[in-house]
Amino acid sequence: MFDGFWRVYSNLNPDAKKIQNVLCAGREWVNDHVAFRTFNLEDFGISRLAEPFVSRGYSLKGRYRFQAKRLFACHYEHIDPLVPKIFISELLVGEFSDFLQETMRFMIEGMRPPTDLFLTTGRSWRVNYKIYNRLLCESEYAAWLYVFGFVPNHFTIYINSLNNFDSLVEVNQVLKKNGYRVNANGGEIKGSPALGLEQSSTLAYGAEVEFEDLATIKKIPACYYEFVKRYDSFNGFIVDSADKIFESTDVK
Ligand code: NI
Repeated sequence: MFDGFWRVYSNLNPDAKKIQNVLCAGREWVNDHVAFRTFNLEDFGISRLAEPFVSRGYSLKGRYRFQAKRLFACHYEHIDPLVPKIFISELLVGEFSDFLQETMRFMIEGMRPPTDLFLTTGRSWRVNYKIYNRLLCESEYAAWLYVFGFVPNHFTIYINSLNNFDSLVEVNQVLKKNGYRVNANGGEIKGSPALGLEQSSTLAYGAEVEFEDLATIKKIPACYYEFVKRYDSFNGFIVDSADKIFESTDVK
């Protein structure tokens, strides 16, 4: 499954492979988690999309509510701690306008219930720039889902597994020195050793998207790379930090 996720993700974020080369330089490293986005409609909510993971040895370990963005999320861990955690968030569609709800329903119209590789399928509908912009006014997350569909949103390097870095400060310095932009919303480093988790991320790669009502290709922030350092065996996530990490796909 993960090969498929990586193939789709690295296609939407061609910088990912280069960033691995810069940070890991041939060393072994651990993937902390892979994150996915969806919405809470019928067969396409978190619990249904988590089934292929649960049947492969994952179990639910954390639940998170993002008040302002109107999201809910869960994280799953595998029995083998070296296998990446899975973080799935869902847009609480019922809390938005009729227009947004109708658009999200249109995306899954006639779709069969998800199979094991559903989260690599992207989108099967054509996108309209006017609709995209209208969604953007309500929810950046909804606009992202509309354009990219069902794909991994980010992979995450577990910095503790690299012996050439002691801190995320150093990681961010190396990234910037190599020309990558670091998400500075809420500070470049989210969280703290006291909270058990520090996180940073690149700004999402601008992927080329064809809209049915535009003559030219647009670049839309697609996928980003995340970096975490964990302390005191803390394996969960921090809502305030994750809230800012979500903004790595912001358009502004
Ligand atoms: Ni993440």
